[in-house]
Amino acid sequence: MTLTPGKKGGSMKTATRITILVIIVALIGGVAYAQFAKPQDAIQYRKAVMVLIGQHFKRMGTVIKGQAAYDPATFTADAQLVASLARLPWEAALEPGSDTGDTTMLAKVFKQPEAFRAAANAFEAATVQLAQAAKAGGDVGALKAPFGSVAQSCKACHKTFRK
Ligand code: HEC
Repeated sequence: MTLTPGKKGGSMKTATRITILVIIVALIGGVAYAQFAKPQDAIQYRKAVMVLIGQHFKRMGTVIKGQAAYDPATFTADAQLVASLARLPWEAALEPGSDTGDTTMLAKVFKQPEAFRAAANAFEAATVQLAQAAKAGGDVGALKAPFGSVAQSCKACHKTFRK
């Protein structure tokens, strides 16, 4: 039996890469599908994520409006952070009993979970597009449209699913 050193090294590298990928996916999955001990925990969790999304989105907004200088690295970091955060709040929103208490979420989320999921998916897709546009560089004008799409999906979901 003859071994081709080059080939063997290559497949080992691939195996390592796949292992790392599986660990990362498991970690992200573990966060996204966190279980909540009580409804109030789910409320706090999703509100905390929304506050972070809001802050980083606002920072990008000041650049888009020309109120702050455009620094591509900072803008890209904000856009990528929002795209990561955008995946987190939905399980917490669908937590049974979390429509009452210190929350502005409507029970409509439970009555129309598919519509809610669709709004979340559209938002996630828009945040990925914005992050990609930011990473591609170029001038701030090219970021206006993808930023606007994200803003639209915030509004669309809030209008339908918040008090
Ligand atoms: C798919 C639905 C959905 C999308 C998209 C969405 N939100 Fe929210 N957001 C919610 C819900 C539901 C709440 C209410 C959470 C609660 O009170 O329990 C909320 C609450 C908030 C809050 C208030 C948090 C608090 O402390 O009460 C802010 C700020 C916010 N969202 C910002 C944003 C921004 C900015 C975007 C877009 C970049 C966005 N959201 C996109 C559903 C969404």
